[in-house]
Amino acid sequence: MKLTHDSIERNVGLLIILTVLVVSVGGLLEIVPLFFQKSTTTPVAGLKPYDPVRLSGRDIYIREGCFLCHSQMIRPFRAETERYGHYSVAGEFVYDHPFQWGSKRTGPDLHRVGGRYSDEWQRAHLINPRDVVPESNMPAFGWLDRNPVDAAGVADKMRALRKVGVPYSDEEIAGAGKEVEGKTELDVLIAYLQGMGLELKGAK
Ligand code: HEC
Repeated sequence: MKLTHDSIERNVGLLIILTVLVVSVGGLLEIVPLFFQKSTTTPVAGLKPYDPVRLSGRDIYIREGCFLCHSQMIRPFRAETERYGHYSVAGEFVYDHPFQWGSKRTGPDLHRVGGRYSDEWQRAHLINPRDVVPESNMPAFGWLDRNPVDAAGVADKMRALRKVGVPYSDEEIAGAGKEVEGKTELDVLIAYLQGMGLELKGAK
């Protein structure tokens, strides 16, 4: 059979196979190399895996859907870098499973929010955003201040992350529960926010 446009269009099976082939080229050539490229798999200098406290905070961030209003991805445009700081690079996210880049900005990008405000400001803002930013339409998250953090679960989370390549040691995992014990969900969420994006914060 001669492969003419006409014969392909009349043969649905062949059309499907060839379409899949053409579409996969985009995926294979563009996406697969990223799994092996140094710039995407090597952590930036100073980047450490989340400690148990920040890891627990990250889970609260995910559970409460903060990513629905906040991105963690500063694009390399002047308008963004002047407002938020150095643009985000892949090496900053190698320990993020899953990453929290987000695609919606009802509120500002949070990738370099670490250290921008004091812990007290973050606490007041999360309990009631209107107390510090009167025009804010961010929801209040006051109950986090009354919820104790799940200390028993954090070691399992670290073990799971180790399976996908985060280099936690046995000692770190064994001591994890103790580190978060007695803290509230608000405490650990603030710790997570305060550590965000520090590695390239001052970089030009
Ligand atoms: C419905 C959308 C929405 C959700 C959900 C939301 N925020 Fe916000 N957030 C905003 C808006 C709008 C602002 C800007 C006004 C303000 O500062 O309150 C903001 C501001 C912030 C700021 C200050 C950023 C800066 O650079 O000034 C932080 C920190 C923050 N949010 C954290 C969180 C966290 C943590 C959560 C989840 C517990 C969350 N937000 C959930 C909308 C949201």
